[in-house]
Amino acid sequence: KRPAGAPDKALAKPVTKVGVIGAGLMASQFALLFVRRLRVPVVITDLDQARVDKGLSYIRDEITALKDKGRIGSDEANRLSALVSGTTDKADFADADWVIEAVFEELGVKQDVFADVEKYVSDTAVLATNTSSLSVEQIGAKLAHPERLVGFHFFNPVAVMPLIEVVNTPATDEATLSTAMVTAAKLRKNAVITRDTPGFVVNRILAKLLGEAMHAVDTGTPFEVVDNALKPFGLPMTPFELLELVGLKVGAHVLDTHHSAFPDRFFESPNLHKLAEHGKIFDRDAKGAIKGFDKTAVKIV
Ligand code: 3HC
Repeated sequence: KRPAGAPDKALAKPVTKVGVIGAGLMASQFALLFVRRLRVPVVITDLDQARVDKGLSYIRDEITALKDKGRIGSDEANRLSALVSGTTDKADFADADWVIEAVFEELGVKQDVFADVEKYVSDTAVLATNTSSLSVEQIGAKLAHPERLVGFHFFNPVAVMPLIEVVNTPATDEATLSTAMVTAAKLRKNAVITRDTPGFVVNRILAKLLGEAMHAVDTGTPFEVVDNALKPFGLPMTPFELLELVGLKVGAHVLDTHHSAFPDRFFESPNLHKLAEHGKIFDRDAKGAIKGFDKTAVKIV
């Protein structure tokens, strides 16, 4: 068993090509970060070309936005754009030495995704999952080489939030952990190594806050009252704003995971699932600024 403490940096493997599975908003955000900070080819993949194209256009728009803000020059913007590609064919992962997924938060789906990816990548490639709260060890249950799987959990918005949780499973070997820590440093993030427990560290605590806020609403306190009560507390967002930011479906999933693991400590919220189906809690203007609570959302609860 590896001794506690930081893994030996000398064991870190070079990352010369990145594969990203899933081209949704979270995956597209960190794909951009990988290309910007590591300056290596990044290939994104998803179930169909339409999803891949959506992810690619998000990344290209963000590169243009960085250029327009003067953060990068035109040459750099062109270089970064040229390093990003998309495909539905995982054969393109053959020479990737770091593959990270952010697909739908369902254990079986993630297990199958990794079992499939292992057919294409080399035996030494590191596999990483951005899961919010599922067990990383269980995600790797179908892998031939579970020692190369690590949790690598980003926070939304990826460009701004400074943290990555590096989730160390009982199977993760030191070279994998070291590669994750060195990669996080290259991405200029603050990395912490966490145990493989539900919600790791941050989501465990956020689930308390968001779960209590939803429970207050579920048991009859109006949205506005909870929202206004929490506004002056110095949080960058109220719990409902945060729920919308992370995605109502993801938020509901995180709460469910915590309720299943610790039923006496975390609430489940059927209303949050209904809100997730509805799609939003707030009405916003064309620029995305909050105008007020969505009337239908308020009636759902
Ligand atoms: N993508 C990229 N950049 C973004 C962004 C986004 N979605 N949202 C904001 N930014 C950037 C802005 O461009 C701006 O950058 P600049 O200074 O270079 O122009 C900078 O962030 C600050 O933005 P604003 O001035 O517009 O806004 P605020 O000062 O109000 O900050 C915020 C916005 C950073 C999102 C802040 O409200 C915040 O920290 N909110 C809490 C976010 C949080 O807790 N995230 C964790 C969620 S949990 C999670 O993701 C885990 C998952 O598993 C559930």
